[in-house]
Amino acid sequence: MTIFFDKKTKTFHLQNAQISYLLGIEENNSLVHLYFGKKIKNYSGNYRYPRTDRSFSPNPPDASDRLLSLDTLPLEFPGNGFGDFREPAYNLKLKNGSRITDFRYDSYKIIAGKPTLEGLPALYVEAENEAETLVVTLKDTLSKLQLKLSYTIYKGFAVIARSTQLVNDSQDSVEVNRLASQSIDFPNRELDLIHLNGSWAKERQLTREKVNTGIKVLDSKRGSSSHHQNPFVALVDPTTTEFQGDAYGINLVYSGNHETVIQKDPYDQTRVITGLNSFNFSWQLGAGETFQTPEAVMVYSSNGLNELSHTYHDLYNHHLIRGEAKLKERPTLINNWEATYFDFNEEKVMKIVEEAKALGIEMFVLDDGWFGGREDDFTSLGDWTETEGKIACGLENLSQKIHEKGLKFGIWFEPEMISEDSDLFRAHPDWALGVPGRGRSLGRNQFVLDFSRQDVRDNIYQQMTSILDRIPIDYVKWDMNRNMTEVYSVLLDSENQGEVSHRYMLGLYEFLEKLVTNYPEILFESCSGGGGRFDAGLLYYMPQTWTSDNTDAVARLKIQYGTSLAYPISSMGAHVSAIPNHQTERKTSLATRGNVAMSGVLGYELDLTQLSTEEKKEIKEQVNFYKQHRQLLQFGTFYRLKSPFEGNDTAWMFVSKNQEEAMVFYYRVLTEASAPLTTLKLVGLLEDENYEFDGKMIAGDELMNIGFYINPELSGDYVSQRFYLRKV
Ligand code: GLA
Repeated sequence: MTIFFDKKTKTFHLQNAQISYLLGIEENNSLVHLYFGKKIKNYSGNYRYPRTDRSFSPNPPDASDRLLSLDTLPLEFPGNGFGDFREPAYNLKLKNGSRITDFRYDSYKIIAGKPTLEGLPALYVEAENEAETLVVTLKDTLSKLQLKLSYTIYKGFAVIARSTQLVNDSQDSVEVNRLASQSIDFPNRELDLIHLNGSWAKERQLTREKVNTGIKVLDSKRGSSSHHQNPFVALVDPTTTEFQGDAYGINLVYSGNHETVIQKDPYDQTRVITGLNSFNFSWQLGAGETFQTPEAVMVYSSNGLNELSHTYHDLYNHHLIRGEAKLKERPTLINNWEATYFDFNEEKVMKIVEEAKALGIEMFVLDDGWFGGREDDFTSLGDWTETEGKIACGLENLSQKIHEKGLKFGIWFEPEMISEDSDLFRAHPDWALGVPGRGRSLGRNQFVLDFSRQDVRDNIYQQMTSILDRIPIDYVKWDMNRNMTEVYSVLLDSENQGEVSHRYMLGLYEFLEKLVTNYPEILFESCSGGGGRFDAGLLYYMPQTWTSDNTDAVARLKIQYGTSLAYPISSMGAHVSAIPNHQTERKTSLATRGNVAMSGVLGYELDLTQLSTEEKKEIKEQVNFYKQHRQLLQFGTFYRLKSPFEGNDTAWMFVSKNQEEAMVFYYRVLTEASAPLTTLKLVGLLEDENYEFDGKMIAGDELMNIGFYINPELSGDYVSQRFYLRKV
């Protein structure tokens, strides 16, 4: 991997074995985008923006002739005011009220490794030789502002990580109304946009559409990355599939309000801008201060979407997820939420624990309802003290009893929330987000604590850690069960109110950094009504996420398929629950529920004491099977073979890194009389090696090129099959 600057052609070339990223400096010192894609060995300098005089395309003040206009120039970090009328990557209001800034190329530096992003989650390196970073400085001379555009290229990954800093070298403060993490201009080409949208219990549904002329905005204004629009998009060629074609992914490492703006102009150029949501955002950047944006992770694949996902998965497993859980097999668990909801006591819990032990499950997680007298969702958030008497022996003894049985012990918190009916709210009503004089909207009967405030964070941190210090706890589920309304902080001045949402996230990240640093042995799983905050920002602190509150095996096919586009399988919590399913009322077989949940971090979320002997036997087999193949299922290469968004059947497979083992899952939603005879071809195997498959010995080339028939007897609704392959 290298980054070099060619003085003759005035181009920067970031290059590794997979990709090239090219930037150029135009004659008027505008920084332009030249290329991002498959590696170019030596760029000649030939490909340059064509000079042409177009009516109504203005020329910048110092242009030597009428041939240069920002109106059509593919700018690397576009602004507004000098003739580029497209969406800008930034919007700054200066002291004199002007929003016109003129950033020109000033200088660059190349840094070994990758600097951290202050206060924000980001990709990291463990050694300096793993990556290299280019920082290009643009300056607006009149306002004395600098933009520092940062690009990191990693060895061995088709990725560029980008972020932006705004440095205010003037004597005045400047109001930041938009500052993107990245902007990229694609030259004329047809593109499809793929994005992950949804709602509660229906997260990350995959939508693919043509990019048409005009502007499309994909965003969240909900105070979290949201169930509704994940901060991930892919831009692909219309012919791109899972296995072939160009694909560009952009994933924002952020858990709050975000936006991606896609604009196709009349000249068939497409601009894609990603960053903090500019809606209701304003930040007063004082003299001498710097504003740092979150990071955007841009991945390129020349072999379709599966390869794009492999890069994200490997990158996140190696350079985003940290701590003791990094690349470590994750425990199977039993969670009591759907088993008992709030209605539990020591006896019930211990019965579940005993069953779990007999079935080979490794951890018990006590969910909502153990604190502050909480027996329903109307009370007690903010009062993180154990409800005396609910667990008769007390939590400390419970933890001990569970540990004595050989299981780990996990517990649920919802630290960012406050119930109106809580001691904390009675003592500090101003600690919840809210506008003085106005009512507060409820969400699940609760308010949101103002995590932009240090005093609020300190109080919750102290409460939470007094539990963690007293009771041996191996795992924490960090929940967040509503979105933000009446976003206002009473500690901030009027002109700073546009900062609250982002200050909240910075506060949350600061809290989490302290927590994971001080409790390195705890495994953290994040949650927001299921997968309402499944994003790369939280994965930096918490290596797992509860994928969805929807545990129905059929609904999960789409949810997990969509999630896998950007996020590693080892980060996806997936549980087998009871039937009829609590969210959809659907009844699926235990085998199918197991086959879906095994394609993530397997857990169970049902009352184990209510199961028949056969069901227990089956679960025991599932758990045992999963533990045997956990490395493959959590960290193997995951291939999507058949999409649940395109038909009745879904298939995916896992291949071990040495390609000697694989696991294939096939699911059929509805049965059909005279169903089509379906074949399945595998991928990722060694062509010349033989695999033991379904009791036979078959070579990799045959399995990949001819494939095999799916058993036509696979009938009934919601059925599934699983195949394990091993090289002989
Ligand atoms: C959210 C979570 C659930 C459960 C409940 C508890 O909905 O997603 O898994 O923890 O909260 O109140």
